[in-house]
Amino acid sequence: MTDQLVLDREKAVERTEELRREIEHHRFLYYVLDRPELSDTDFDRMYRELQELEQLYPDLMTPTSPTQKVGYQPSTDFKQIKHRVPLLSLANAMGNDDLDRWNERLLRQLDLPPGESAQIEFVCELKIDGLSIAITYKDGKFVEGATRGNGETGEDVTLNLRTVAGLPRELKPKEGFTVPKMVEVRGEVYMPISNFNQLNSSLEEDGDQTFANPRNAAAGSLRQKDPRVTAKRKLALWTYGIYVTDPVLKDPDTHQAAMELLEGLGLPVNANRAAAQGIDEVKQFCADWDEKRHGLDYQTDGVVIKVNNRKLWDQLGTTAHSPRWAVAFKYPPDEVETVVEDVEFDVGRIGTVTPVACLRPVKLAGSTVRRATLHNFDQVRRLDVRVGDTVVIRKAAEIIPEVLRVIHEKRPASSIPIHEPEGCPICSGTLERLANEVALKCTNYSCPARVKRRLSHWVSRDAMDIDGLGEVIVKQLVETGFVTDTSDLYMLTEEKLMSLERMGKKSAEKLINAINASRTRPQACLIHALGIRHVGSRMSEILAEHFGGLEAVMNAELTALEKIEGVGPQIAAAIVQFLSDPDNIALIRRLEERGIKLQADADERGPQFEQTLAGKTFVITGTLSMERSDAEKQIKARGGKPTSSVSKKTDYVVVGANPGSKFQKAQELGITVLDEEAFRKILAGET
Ligand code: IVH
Repeated sequence: MTDQLVLDREKAVERTEELRREIEHHRFLYYVLDRPELSDTDFDRMYRELQELEQLYPDLMTPTSPTQKVGYQPSTDFKQIKHRVPLLSLANAMGNDDLDRWNERLLRQLDLPPGESAQIEFVCELKIDGLSIAITYKDGKFVEGATRGNGETGEDVTLNLRTVAGLPRELKPKEGFTVPKMVEVRGEVYMPISNFNQLNSSLEEDGDQTFANPRNAAAGSLRQKDPRVTAKRKLALWTYGIYVTDPVLKDPDTHQAAMELLEGLGLPVNANRAAAQGIDEVKQFCADWDEKRHGLDYQTDGVVIKVNNRKLWDQLGTTAHSPRWAVAFKYPPDEVETVVEDVEFDVGRIGTVTPVACLRPVKLAGSTVRRATLHNFDQVRRLDVRVGDTVVIRKAAEIIPEVLRVIHEKRPASSIPIHEPEGCPICSGTLERLANEVALKCTNYSCPARVKRRLSHWVSRDAMDIDGLGEVIVKQLVETGFVTDTSDLYMLTEEKLMSLERMGKKSAEKLINAINASRTRPQACLIHALGIRHVGSRMSEILAEHFGGLEAVMNAELTALEKIEGVGPQIAAAIVQFLSDPDNIALIRRLEERGIKLQADADERGPQFEQTLAGKTFVITGTLSMERSDAEKQIKARGGKPTSSVSKKTDYVVVGANPGSKFQKAQELGITVLDEEAFRKILAGET
């Protein structure tokens, strides 16, 4: 028990209230905003302190205390779904001693003698750091999926879950398995680390806020209002629980059998699991995976241990919070102490200055760490970090390390405070801080650091897609002065390129061809390439489609932009701000002079079709072989109107594979149903 607990009652009352407020605040940040400000370890510390205080002063306990709740109130942005069986949390075991205590308790409850003779059979699984979901299959078809929410009621994320590649829309039983009438499957949706890193770099490129870790990225992506955004985020799934409802088939008797059933039905199950006879084998499993887990493409923060015999589950029961038949063994966090040896400032595309701590190299989570981000100067002040300080850094495998806290007791007399630089650390230009923003920004449009970042973004795959222009060449082009702004790219010659290091005639020729080819990229790519804040590739497509090109976007009023579906005030303001900045306008005009078209030609906008579907409304359900957005475009191009719900006014319902309830409704209302072939015929004007 910590010293803080030897408090008198009055202080305990105060502290409990304070902890509850803090915990609620941080749970809100974690569960609702998907943007935690505390490390899991610091949160757990607060939570444990509250639990201990409540144990010490039971009369202070209230039913609304955060220790009595699971998760968070589901968001009202989604329809709510009441779980058939509550989704509970798990009690944590912070080390082998906690595992022993859990085991002894199980033995007592099951009336087994303590000691070696009584060995409970367990199953050990990796604890995947994502978010838990409940998914329902009826007659083998995926019909519904929900987040945990507060444990009793979750958010309906069915549409978003349909975009998760690993989630089968239909159960495909392997030999020897039968699909039950209904099953509810429990599992964890997560974002593979490789996808997480890609996502964060592209968010950063677009000037958007990045996610702190794959867990938040997964939660943020699954709880999107637009399933197309979720689809792009490339989420994955592991399942680890099943409840069968069937007149004949029964729930499995053991957890092992449940896992085999999940696998047998074609659901994704993590193979890194094992049966363990007794708690010592459990400890061995946990020890074995401590290092090995760093080589995986998903984050694991522990091991989940379950009693194998499901018949014992009822006997053991649950607390308000968690079942007694399972526990989460938590690895000590991937945190380590090191010393800040220096500080550097990184300057991004829109000029954001990010302080970065240069560290005494340390091994952590499977790699050597030399630098850690300090995010911004507010954070520098909050942490009170100086050069010379001993700090705790955190890094999960493959993820950018960050400074968590300073060990102030270890501060040397020679420590040097970190001040905001007076001018840009790269170009000495003026720095400014916009109202309501924490970021300090370099205002010099020609700052070499900014030019490099702009250029890297311009040439990237989703933008102008110029192959062969990697970081090294970008750096050389800017440092030699060949490129002082993006438009200079279109003035490069083979000779100039050949004067760069390690650039032969062949590569120079290829690069010039690639640059020339980029002049005719679609308008959506051009708009994206400019690097307007919040305008990623999807938003650029919306703008290009609506306006036909950049020139028309430049002429658009704020109010016109705001009215476009999917744009909204924040994005509209960012567009107007960018396109009224004289530096940006000058760049766009230079690009135009150098042969970049600012408006699509009529033939680029797609062929003009006869308005054969004028006045007809369409609803699409299920998966077609063409993208749904494409199908909708085709309908619109012929004067038709794609809509989202079936009513008496609907003319056609187009039905793809695995259609939803809209198909049924269409049949009930007697509306003409088209399969893909018939739909294509209608588009071609053949019927
Ligand atoms: S079983 C009654 N198995 O960890 C709870 N959970 O801290 C049954 N998790 O809410 C959960 N991997 O989101 C279980 N192999 C696994 C898991 C797992 C990750 C998550 C899950 C749960 C949380 C508890």
